[in-house]
Amino acid sequence: MRYLVTGGAGFIGSHITERLLADGHQVRILDNFSTGKHENIPDSADVEVIAGDVGDYDTVCAAMAQVDMVFHEAAIASVPETVGNPLASERVNYRGTVNILEAARHAGVQRVMFACSAAVYGDLPELPKREDMPVKPMTPYAIDKLASEHACQAYYHLYGLETVSLRYFNVFGPRQDPSSPYSGVISIFSDFLNHGKQPTIYGDGEQTRDFVYVADVVEANIRASTASEAPGRSFNVATGGTLSINELLKTICDIKGQPFSPQYKPGRDGDIKHSRADISAAREYLGWQPTVAFEDGLLKLFEA
Ligand SMILES: NC(=O)c1ccc[n+]([C@@H]2O[C@H](COP(=O)([O-])OP(=O)(O)OC[C@H]3O[C@@H](n4cnc5c(N)ncnc54)[C@H](O)[C@@H]3O)[C@@H](O)[C@H]2O)c1
Repeated sequence: MRYLVTGGAGFIGSHITERLLADGHQVRILDNFSTGKHENIPDSADVEVIAGDVGDYDTVCAAMAQVDMVFHEAAIASVPETVGNPLASERVNYRGTVNILEAARHAGVQRVMFACSAAVYGDLPELPKREDMPVKPMTPYAIDKLASEHACQAYYHLYGLETVSLRYFNVFGPRQDPSSPYSGVISIFSDFLNHGKQPTIYGDGEQTRDFVYVADVVEANIRASTASEAPGRSFNVATGGTLSINELLKTICDIKGQPFSPQYKPGRDGDIKHSRADISAAREYLGWQPTVAFEDGLLKLFEA
């Protein structure tokens, strides 16, 4: 099969690419290398790279030729960047998705998997988050991810293009960007400890997140690409567990054999206090569940 992976030079897209190659497929990457890196792309005769912008419809149509399925990971993934430039977010994160859907529909693509985000839930307090709960997007990033998800569903119902939206929580693993608001904190803590510096925790450290290892996210994508009842639906991709930032740092300190002695600073505006997913829909419809425990994932990340 030939797969198009948008954002294939980025963190998650490059792991999806690796997996598709290992499964014997051909991969075409469409990436503008704004945050993606050439060295993230596996060196293989089965990978074709198009340097281009998902915001440009003609480029997307060219990339879609002879493609069987799409993993649409390309986005401005930095929430602060979208707050600073909402028009750029709309162009890449929303219109880029519509470009993908429209080109996929005309090219006769079988299925499109869309990288959505837990950001769509906003700061509504009810936990754990289920896909049928109300949403409250609070940033251009979250608005455009939610609008893209609606576009995916509309393309399924209006045109029969199979689409699956995956709401990733905090994905971590090798090649993650240390400046990522999702899991960059892991790399930042690790770097501070490696340099004998005291890590900073904003707030009391009791804010919680649902960290999911990147290989599990890849597996969720692969299952979403074949599960018969997945099209037209959205799924949380997370562990269903929860970890406070204090616990996270303690775990990293234990692995590195260093004392836990963070510096606490006032919490940052707009930080969501708690985030945790209900993953029963992904279990039921995708037959998926995470397999990598947090500590094991950290060890793999530090080894890489
Ligand atoms: N990392 C997480 O925890 C997380 C959580 C929720 C959702 N997501 C979503 O998952 C996807 C992948 O995120 P990531 O963490 O791998 O980020 P990343 O920044 O590493 O990857 C994004 C890729 O998209 C490319 N890109 C950006 N704008 C583009 C454009 N206009 N045209 C073509 N390519 C473009 C970048 O160069 C990069 O290679 C994104 O859609 C992101 O919003 C990530």
